[in-house]
Amino acid sequence: MSRMCEGRVVVVTGAGRGLGRAHALAFAAEGAKVVVNDLGVGLDGTPGADGPSRHVVEEIRAAGGEAIAHGGDVATSAGAASLVAAALDTYGRLDTLVNNAGFLRDRMLVNLDEDDWDAVVRVHLKGHFLPLKHAAAHWRAEAKAGRIPAARIVNTSSGAGLLGSVGQSNYSAAKAGIVGLTLVAAAELARYGVQVNAIAPAARTRMTERTFADTMTAPGSGFDAMAPENVSPLVVWLGAEQSAGVTGRVFETEGGRITVMEGWRAGPSADQGARWTPGEVGEAARKLLGEAETPGQVYGT
Ligand SMILES: NC(=O)c1ccc[n+]([C@@H]2O[C@H](COP(=O)([O-])OP(=O)(O)OC[C@H]3O[C@@H](n4cnc5c(N)ncnc54)[C@H](O)[C@@H]3O)[C@@H](O)[C@H]2O)c1
Repeated sequence: MSRMCEGRVVVVTGAGRGLGRAHALAFAAEGAKVVVNDLGVGLDGTPGADGPSRHVVEEIRAAGGEAIAHGGDVATSAGAASLVAAALDTYGRLDTLVNNAGFLRDRMLVNLDEDDWDAVVRVHLKGHFLPLKHAAAHWRAEAKAGRIPAARIVNTSSGAGLLGSVGQSNYSAAKAGIVGLTLVAAAELARYGVQVNAIAPAARTRMTERTFADTMTAPGSGFDAMAPENVSPLVVWLGAEQSAGVTGRVFETEGGRITVMEGWRAGPSADQGARWTPGEVGEAARKLLGEAETPGQVYGT
């Protein structure tokens, strides 16, 4: 039986450990050649000693697959450009980009330093935008040369970005921004043969294993629901030709469950055909809120 990503070239950012590593291994198992990017930073973004992407490349090669390591910072233009160039120079093509790299600096917002805000928004939001922009420029050139690709981008949001999460205002803002970026990229790039979707995963990685220890711990036996490998099949399918026609969507994925997230849509509304007074607004807004659905609960409340 032919494998789902045979012949495709896939870039995965932040793939030295955690979810990105699982995605890289899963793509390779489906026949893709993988560019394994990781800057090798600590959980809060401080520089780390080793280059974890090399170990994942060794794992892929040991299993008979093809991969190369890339150790650049995806939140810089030079890092993002060299990442796309690594795929093109080594394998001669690029089919799928999985934006996954990131780190946390959690604090209640009154204690959040400007640096913690900037670092987290930068790594997630700019770290999605720059690889996406460089990959899209390549695909646009391909499309204009008459070679319409079956290109795929999978972005990584979070429940924190969709519902909010106490102690994570920087992270939640960045992950909500990634949803907005996904919607615009899907709309702008469709004409070049590029589909763009986002996932909001949950899995046991160094990001979650301590904070959510009670829900993340592996069971002694049976289905290990929080293993990062459970998230990767959806990412592989979204990154494959087989997901044709699916773009601009957000999926929550955890354990054995996949959920299509339904975004902002107009709820109860009133129009009196003239300017409201603040008093009238108050009365109307309370009535509308009474008719509206209760918002999902912010994580940590
Ligand atoms: N684990 C979860 O439950 C969960 C939930 C929601 C969202 N996410 C998101 O999934 C993604 C992966 O998270 P994870 O849990 O596997 O964390 P992780 O810390 O295990 O992996 C993230 C990797 O990104 C790398 N990285 C950080 N900054 C980088 C940069 N500038 N350039 C290149 N690489 C960089 C790190 O070195 C690390 O190896 C993140 O975007 C995270 O926000 C995770």
